[in-house]
Parts: sequence; structure tokens; C-alpha cells
Amino acid sequence: MSETTCTIIAPANIAMVKYWGARDLSEAIPNHASISMTLDRCHTECSVAYRATRGADEVALVDDDGRPLAMPDSFVPRVVAHLDVLRETAGVDGSFRVATRNSFPSGAGMASSASGFAALTMAAAGALGLDLDVAKLSDLARRSGSGSAARSVLGGYVEWPIATGNGAYAAAPLADASDWDLRDVIALIDVEPKKVSSLAGHERASTSPHYATRLGLVEDRLRGVRAAIAARDLDSLGTIVEQDAIELHVIAMTSRPPIFYWRPATLAALAAVRALRRDGVPAYSTIDAGANVHVLCDPSEEDAVAARLSGVPGVVDVIRDRVGSGPRRSERHLIP
Ligand code: PMV
Repeated sequence: MSETTCTIIAPANIAMVKYWGARDLSEAIPNHASISMTLDRCHTECSVAYRATRGADEVALVDDDGRPLAMPDSFVPRVVAHLDVLRETAGVDGSFRVATRNSFPSGAGMASSASGFAALTMAAAGALGLDLDVAKLSDLARRSGSGSAARSVLGGYVEWPIATGNGAYAAAPLADASDWDLRDVIALIDVEPKKVSSLAGHERASTSPHYATRLGLVEDRLRGVRAAIAARDLDSLGTIVEQDAIELHVIAMTSRPPIFYWRPATLAALAAVRALRRDGVPAYSTIDAGANVHVLCDPSEEDAVAARLSGVPGVVDVIRDRVGSGPRRSERHLIP
């Protein structure tokens, strides 16, 4: 039986103005735009094989040696629902085999859904032989329900959504990775899957009394981040990025019921970043829906930032990542 296989390596991304709250959660139609930087080392490698015969899809999360790992309950249903979107797009009713692997801890606020669904979308489109442009792939990735996946289809600095008409919400590039070499030094504090998903966070966002204030501030912030990226101005960028992250967590903590993503070591890492700045090291923090702290800095400061974060009690590991140029195809498949 003939099968076509495609493997894509898609990076995670770190949001600078965060997506938080949606008009339609199942298809990730956001309440406002967001901006991120696509990473390089933190990525998902996803192989998809398609055959024209009907049947159940087979989905596996695998380790570095291809051995199957335990999957969260929601994992397979979300993947299969997204494969249905791809089947509908292609107008086919065959079945898929999927094997996917993350280069970093899954589900711990490390954007594994962003890289995972970007890689799945592109690999499934490849296996189906669909010739889609990047805007269409980004819009399809968003329909997984993970809005941040729409940004991981592109490299460099990315804004989403750009309403492209006909109900599409695709991401678009703001600058290339080669335009500005920024580093993201990640303090890993909690590597277990988070207790409250970002989907639950989006759902509850509007129950916070502070959410309406955020919606009023976000346009200005997007303008500021675009300008800082264009000018490669780390101090302006970092100041806005820190404000935006703290605000997201204030909203999470004041949602009903409240969500506390932070751990004590999260606060300690934030304090370490402020201390670095007092010592003259320009470094700025941001936190997605988890406990881990991402620290943005210039390449010349990466060693100092990594050393300081490693010494923070409760930081279990430090990942040194950087802005990257986006997804790529691989000829090494995870499925035989
Ligand atoms: O794409 P989702 O539904 O996993 O939501 C992402 C939420 C944040 O990571 C907190 C912010 C963002 O824009 O990436």
C-alpha cells in the first residue's frame, strides 16, 4: 500500500506581546494581535505518513531513540482533530501515521503546542502533496486551536494575526533572524506538564477585571515592539516585553478561578534578571503560560546571563537558545 512521508522540524517561539484570550477558542481567533521571536534549538520534529486507505490515525510521541512516550489525555484527540482539518483542506479521507518528538520538555509552558502543531500542519500538508504558501500554512496551523502555532510556521520576528480576508488569520514576518541576533536564555524551573493548559487560560482571561485594561493597552505595545525590532533597540523592546508578560500573569492570577503558573523560583529568576541589569547587563525577562523564565539578551551577554540563572535556587537547567530562521524539511523520518 503506497504511503507518502514528510518530516518537518519546526521551532518553538517566545512571545514578546502575548496572545491571551480568544473570540473563538477552538479555531484560535484571537482578541488581539501578538508578536514573537522564533527560536532555533527548541523544536519539534514531526513525521507524517499518509495513505489513501481509510482507517484510524496512528499517533505517537517518541523520545530521541524513537521509543514511544506517555501522552497527555488530550494529545491524540487534538492531533486527530487537526488531521481532520488537513483532510478537509485536501478533500481526502485517507489515514495518517504520525510520530513526533520535542527537543525540550513538552507541555511545561515551553510552546510545545506551537512547534508541535506548526510541524504537524506542515508535515501533513507535505505528505498530502499540498502546495500551500506560508500564509495558508500559518492559518491552517492556527486552526489546531494553538494560536501560537501560526507564528512558528515562520522564522525570525513574526506578528500574528494579519487578517488576510476570507476568515483567514495568518502570521507574517516583521524581520528576519539574520537582521538581529537575539539570544533567549531559558531558566527551566518546572519541566512537568502544566496543571492548567493555555487553552483554559485563554478561556478564563475575560473573567479577570484587568483583561479589559489589557485590551486597551495592547495596540500601543504592538507598535512599540514593532518599532524596537526595526531599530534593534533591546532596552525599549525588553521594557515592553517584561510589562506584557507580568500583565498576562496578573490576568491569569485574577481570572476566576485563578491560575498561578509561577513557582517561587520564577520570582527568584525575575529578581536575578533585575540584578543583572543593576550590574550593567541588559537582559529582559518574559514568561509564557508556565513557570520557566526566558531571558532576552545580546550574544555578548549570553554567558553572563546563563551563569547567573544557573545559580538561582530552583532553576533545574538552563537552555541557551536564539532567534532562528524557521521550519525546515528533514529526510530523516521518525516512522519506518
Ligand atoms: O497557542 P496557545 O493556545 O498555546 O497559547 C499561547 C499562550 C502564550 O504562550 C502564553 C502566549 C503566546 O502568545 O505564545
